Amino acid sequence: MEVIIQNDPEAASALSARRIAQIVHAKPNAVLGLATGSTPLRLYKELIRLHREEGLDFSQVTSFNLDEYLGLAPGHPASYRYFMREHFFQHINIAPERTFVPSGLVAGPDIAKYCAEYEEEIRKVGGIDLQILGIGSDGHIGFNEPSSSLASRTRIKTLTQRTRQDNTPFFDNPDDVPHHVITMGVGTIMEAREIHLLAFGDKKAEAIAAAVEGPITANVPASVLQMHRTARLFADEGAASQLARQEYYRWVFDNKPAWQAF
Ligand code: PGA
Repeated sequence: MEVIIQNDPEAASALSARRIAQIVHAKPNAVLGLATGSTPLRLYKELIRLHREEGLDFSQVTSFNLDEYLGLAPGHPASYRYFMREHFFQHINIAPERTFVPSGLVAGPDIAKYCAEYEEEIRKVGGIDLQILGIGSDGHIGFNEPSSSLASRTRIKTLTQRTRQDNTPFFDNPDDVPHHVITMGVGTIMEAREIHLLAFGDKKAEAIAAAVEGPITANVPASVLQMHRTARLFADEGAASQLARQEYYRWVFDNKPAWQAF
């Protein structure tokens, strides 16, 4: 994994955005895997700025979101479909019909079929070129909670109490946080050609140290990214603060050959 440590979340997000812009310039119909939560907000702001000020064109891009709460309609302010529209889609020129977010309204036995179809949609457009990820304080990616199979596919998951607690700020009442979600699987995520894991703040330091420098284990789903050929971590100082090799990662980044910089 390439570990990129920047002084603040803005600088880290801007670097990730610059790489995404490179990908979209090179392949205008690129397929982006998108994430929600507080972590990618600065990244979306920067991509919106690049669209407005530098003409970054999303008109042929397709996007797939990682996950959605079951039971929430697309218009619910805490749904991830709503989040994406508010914070990203309505500010760029992406075609709404090419933005895929799992539905929160499938139920019962239909869920497995729906999840298989979501995977099929990803396959139909040739797979995900770039996947954005946040990390849960428990090491989850998407909503793949600890103990998720590292080979898992898109499916229903039950959230841990810790994740429900972490996500209460997005809801009026802590009891309103749904228990169940649809999430891309760890195996689905690993098929993306490039992965950007973003992590900001001291609260993520323990999970990041375990994911980057600990053993690969389903107890820390993000640790599987050590097996990905092109996974990059964009962290601020807080999230990187428990990494043993911080100085080494900084040195490597600062001494890249010019042609490798982005
Ligand atoms: P956050 O969530 O960005 O709101 O911290 C990250 C995650 O749970 O993946």
